[in-house]
Amino acid sequence: MTKALTAYLWVTIAVGAATLSIGVARAETPAERGAYLVGTIMTCNNCHTPMGPSGPQFDKALSGGLTFDVPPFNVTAPNITQDKETGIGNWTDAEIKQTLRSGIRPNGAKLAGVMPSGFYGAITEPDMDAIVAYLRTVKPISNKVPAPVYRVPVELEMFPGAEKPIANDGSKEQRGRYLATIGHCMECHTPMEKGMHAYSTSLGAGGQDFPGPWGTSVARNITSSKEKGLGEWTDAEIKRAITQGISRNGTKLFPPMGYPYYARMTAADLDALVAWLRTVPPQE
Ligand code: HEC
Ligand code: HEC
Repeated sequence: MTKALTAYLWVTIAVGAATLSIGVARAETPAERGAYLVGTIMTCNNCHTPMGPSGPQFDKALSGGLTFDVPPFNVTAPNITQDKETGIGNWTDAEIKQTLRSGIRPNGAKLAGVMPSGFYGAITEPDMDAIVAYLRTVKPISNKVPAPVYRVPVELEMFPGAEKPIANDGSKEQRGRYLATIGHCMECHTPMEKGMHAYSTSLGAGGQDFPGPWGTSVARNITSSKEKGLGEWTDAEIKRAITQGISRNGTKLFPPMGYPYYARMTAADLDALVAWLRTVPPQE
């Protein structure tokens, strides 16, 4: 791992810990809940915040970020700050919600699948309100990102089970399924077949390549397979991998998985996520 990357992981973890230590005594406001979802499991900053040499530039949070040159598309994560000209300051609440859920912009243009809208139908109404309430608090920053290039028509790929909100039935597993869905874990961890994710046949089997400044990382098998997946791992080992980017054998894991964001999740949410991972059928 490069020095810059190590510094990035640790700095962001420290910032996260400081932010979390507030707000135990009173009820969480919707904007705080939204900040939690956006800043942890949903990892919006991982794509929408510009990346500097030592990690995300949080002083320019959500002002437009990474460019994904994934033929046939070349798209840049847009500015989603409250700037009225270059961000989403002029969008209504309903327009923001509709875009997140449907992957269709207010002007009718469809968003490339890099934006995980195929997972966001699972978001409950109170959480959707919370996300919008938080986005309204994001400091406006003027930054125009390059226009998207689509060489073929964009189609929304719906993640199975994300067609409608996943209600909280009080069980740990259901809570975990909710978090894993809105956290789009399986988007990276499921192999592609003919340009589509093989969710129905190879959920969680790993295999996608992610090239970047770190080299090429390959998404791993995170099913309950004892041989190839997490079946023999302890809960603590799985949590360490997710929050610290350290594999079972102690080796470092590389981006683009947003370890420092997951590090700020509550202990209960992390427990639920692990409980759900245990239920993912083995893939060899
Ligand atoms: C994996 C990267 C990624 C993540 C994570 C992600 N986005 Fe996006 N988002 C994108 C990209 C790329 C686009 C633009 C796609 C295009 O141009 O077709 C986009 C588009 C958008 C748009 C449309 C903006 C516009 O001007 O058209 C909104 C709003 C948005 N994202 C909000 C969010 C929020 C809120 C989150 C977290 C809950 C989030 N995104 C998570 C990559 C991401
Ligand atoms: C943006 C893509 C991406 C997303 C989203 C993502 N991961 Fe990963 N994950 C990876 C990659 C790539 C690796 C392997 C990194 C390496 O080998 O350096 C990995 C590694 C892991 C590992 C370590 C496995 C091992 O054998 O060491 C676990 C566990 C894991 N991910 C779970 C999750 C969970 C749970 C989520 C959702 C909360 C998630 N991932 C979201 C890309 C992603």
